[in-house]
Amino acid sequence: MCGIVGKISLNPVNNLIIDGLKKLEYRGYDSVGMAIINSNNKLKTLKSAGKIKDFLIKYNSNKIEGNIGIGHTRWATHGIPSDLNAHPILDYNEKIAVVHNGIIENYLDIKNSLIEEGYLFQTDTDTECISNLISFYTRNGNSIMNSIKLTLDKIIGHAAVLVIDEESPDKIFGFKKGFAGSLLIGKKNKEISIASDFDTLKTNSDEYIVLEDYEYFYASKDKIEIFKQNKPRTKTWMKIKGDTEIVSKENYKYFMEKEIHEQSAVFLRNLQGRVDFNEKSIDFTDDFSKLKLEKIERIHLIGMGSSYYACMLGSYWLEKISKIPTQFSTSSEFRYRSPVIENNTLIIPVSQSGETADTLSASNLVKELNISQIAITNSINSELERITNNTIMMRANTEIAVASTKTFMATIEILFMLSIYFAKLKNVNIEKNIIFEELKIIPSYIDNILGNVSEISKLAKKYSINDNFLFLGRGQNLPIAMEGALKLKELSYIHAEGYPAGEMKHGPIALIDENMPVFNIVTEGQYFNKMISNIREIGSRNGKIIVLTNCPDKLDPSWYTDIISFDRTNDLLSPFLSTVCVQLFSMYTAISRKLDIDQPRNLAKSVTVE
Ligand code: M6R
Repeated sequence: MCGIVGKISLNPVNNLIIDGLKKLEYRGYDSVGMAIINSNNKLKTLKSAGKIKDFLIKYNSNKIEGNIGIGHTRWATHGIPSDLNAHPILDYNEKIAVVHNGIIENYLDIKNSLIEEGYLFQTDTDTECISNLISFYTRNGNSIMNSIKLTLDKIIGHAAVLVIDEESPDKIFGFKKGFAGSLLIGKKNKEISIASDFDTLKTNSDEYIVLEDYEYFYASKDKIEIFKQNKPRTKTWMKIKGDTEIVSKENYKYFMEKEIHEQSAVFLRNLQGRVDFNEKSIDFTDDFSKLKLEKIERIHLIGMGSSYYACMLGSYWLEKISKIPTQFSTSSEFRYRSPVIENNTLIIPVSQSGETADTLSASNLVKELNISQIAITNSINSELERITNNTIMMRANTEIAVASTKTFMATIEILFMLSIYFAKLKNVNIEKNIIFEELKIIPSYIDNILGNVSEISKLAKKYSINDNFLFLGRGQNLPIAMEGALKLKELSYIHAEGYPAGEMKHGPIALIDENMPVFNIVTEGQYFNKMISNIREIGSRNGKIIVLTNCPDKLDPSWYTDIISFDRTNDLLSPFLSTVCVQLFSMYTAISRKLDIDQPRNLAKSVTVE
């Protein structure tokens, strides 16, 4: 989703800003822009709908240059992706430029009152009310800093904002309100970097600080001052440690393909230091040593999209393995339904990006209620980590493709391990020998699937002409059916629904005819016979039946149209393998349809608006 970058240097910053914009690309965006104060202290902007390559075509024939500037990748909320609506957004005098992540909920009120004051609006964006509001306050005698504060007070909604002003040509200003993602300020020698994303910041910074809710600031090459409610804030600069991860596609054609193929390594990495196979025990002391969990009586998992389906699966495992009553909700519903959270409840917010607006707001609500929580995230230094203070890291390294794959795998693995951890804490007996033996073997079973993708790719090609799909499962296979349907619609734009197989005859069965492929996840165990009955019902209505199974020998080939099989495990662990199959199926379907695999239309990696 939208990304922000800002730079101050003794040398021209244009290329640094462009590098920053390229780093932000993976978040998903539809237009790009940059504003610079040039050596004559004039504000210059360049904006383009489309991708960075489109922006660079414009830039190369019309370079703007200066030692201070801001840049933005926009994911449209208010107004179509266009050159005009791309950020930076100017005030009506064209002296102030603003880049903004988030949504201003009262923008129409502000816009109408400014129009009455004689202001003109050129764009469809909510952001234009910020640039014009700052301009309005300065015109009425306020300093730029005070105008920034007054604007922050006036707007309702979520905003991470940077501002440059021709009247203060050596400074970048900014503020943060609510949950529109991070705003981080870094420094290295005399160079200042500002970014909405830690990975973008860290390449050019030795140390950094984090802007918090309601804080506003200015930065020049010599000084940074931060305020909240007119009072200066003192911040401790944190060192940026470690190597910068170099992310490339290696020999793969797509990032998504590479990330799917990394999953056995990610799986192994998440076991390390947490699982003791000799003792058959799991320990998360390094992840959340501060929390006392013995008294936990209930768990509530919250997340969005794939993270939500991971929560659904986690709830099945937590109840089945550790016998702790567990609920799961989308963060967006949880936060607004005035949830009743009983004593001794643990909340687990899940977000690979650690920046999803709804999950941040829900987690902040939990924090305000003083309820224990442990986040699961893949993003070091993310806002979610800061809110919860207790984090289990996914150890998946950077995921570039917009569709979650290896981070989904890491999340469900962590939730599975947590279920075993809680079982011990609660003195619940589990079949340790089987579970630990099979956990050990999962990475090689994942590699078995990945070593032989041709069958799945052929089937994906065969079915890629379809417009609709149903995915069915029961028990721990249901969340994978839902995730499979989400992946297919995200990547191939085919309409797909995930359903509990038992629910099919209560409505969806009306859709079944010879044009409706139904993807059924059938594994050996508790649900096997029930699934077979449901499959027969589909067959009786001429639906096309694809079976994803770990027990092909138990199925009668006359009942299904096509089959994908994977190694047999204990039923509880089969989601680790069926997940890989549904990921491959959706990727190869999208490849057959010649679509953008890594950046499907309309999607964003980091959803910073609610
Ligand atoms: O960063 P998060 O895990 O909080 O993201 C949540 C969803 O936006 C995300 O899972 C989305 O559904 C992906 N596109 C799934 O592939």
